[in-house]
Amino acid sequence: MPLYQGRPVSLFGTGIYMPEHVLTNHDLEKMVDTSDAWIKERTGISERRIAARDELTSDLALKASIEALRDASIPPEAIDMVLVATNTPDSIFPGVAPKVQGMLDASRAGACDIQSGCTSSVYALAMAASGIASGIWDNVLVIGAEVLSRLVNWKDRNTCVLFGDGAGAAVLGASRDGKNRVIASSLRSDGTKHNLITFLGGLVQYPATHDTIDAGLHHIQMKGNEVFKFANRTLPSFLEDFCRDVDCPVDKIDWWVFHQANWRIIEGVLKRMDVPLEKTIVNLDKYGNTSSASVFVALHEGLQSGKIKRGDLVLTVSFGSGMTYGAILFEV
Ligand code: UT7
Repeated sequence: MPLYQGRPVSLFGTGIYMPEHVLTNHDLEKMVDTSDAWIKERTGISERRIAARDELTSDLALKASIEALRDASIPPEAIDMVLVATNTPDSIFPGVAPKVQGMLDASRAGACDIQSGCTSSVYALAMAASGIASGIWDNVLVIGAEVLSRLVNWKDRNTCVLFGDGAGAAVLGASRDGKNRVIASSLRSDGTKHNLITFLGGLVQYPATHDTIDAGLHHIQMKGNEVFKFANRTLPSFLEDFCRDVDCPVDKIDWWVFHQANWRIIEGVLKRMDVPLEKTIVNLDKYGNTSSASVFVALHEGLQSGKIKRGDLVLTVSFGSGMTYGAILFEV
């Protein structure tokens, strides 16, 4: 059963940091053979944020964390674990999480990165909730942060129009009153499709050489249309099964917070499940696909705008490289 047992877990606060620089579709028209109309029609994206040259993933993560801790009214020393969902760490080691833990002076906390494609966000939230429910942690800082712009091939129109940089954070903790609890999660993977979204260069399989650079292995490569089909085919039945297993009828869910990859995927999945499109938070028009950061940012903006209200049932869903996918259901 994907239902959480043990101590109730609550969402105490959220925060985001989006880099200042805006790259519009019209800017991209000057860089590759594309058009604002094509990008909007095929993805829903109008613009995305790009980190400054001196900004690292850990810098974005830190800024989002400070806002989330303030929102939660929890000091860094009360954090037991820092989990950072990212596919674009500053370096393979050290991870982003220990750097953020150090910069925050969260002196009692452990720290680790979680990397599982864009679903890292949901994986990290689910792991944080599990640790709190079991009693080993009281408060966990969960962050999704990406600087994808450094891994994108800016000459490849198949990928460069999609991605953006950004960070979001959430503080989860042992519930103070038993209300507003994380209810259930399901984490899945179909590793037979591991070749659909890749970044292969510079590590064990392909140590960095001039040849790996020439072969484009130091950039994101994606079979976009196959990913599109995977998401549309896999997510509706996965989500319907999940709702049935946790005894939460689809129409009881107030908000669907999807990974912000492509509006046509969100629309297609919701239509297949007969869910009104007004029940989803969409911000991919202004941020593009920020991978592990996207659901944190959408959740934060949904709460800040007043759309998502305390007590609402929220289902957060993601999918990505691996191919991994997952969902977490909670009452905010
Ligand atoms: O977070 C990770 C998960 N990733 C995703 O969710 C990505 C999922 N996939 C998608 O969002 C879509 O598949 C894309 C937006 C990437 C592509 O849309 P599509 O409708 O699947 O297009 P396509 O790949 O089938 O390509 C259709 C045409 C091709 O031209 P031809 O062969 O028909 O002449 C492409 O070369 O569109 C062309 N194309 C472009 N044209 C203008 C591909 N990229 C561009 C572009 N501008 N940027």
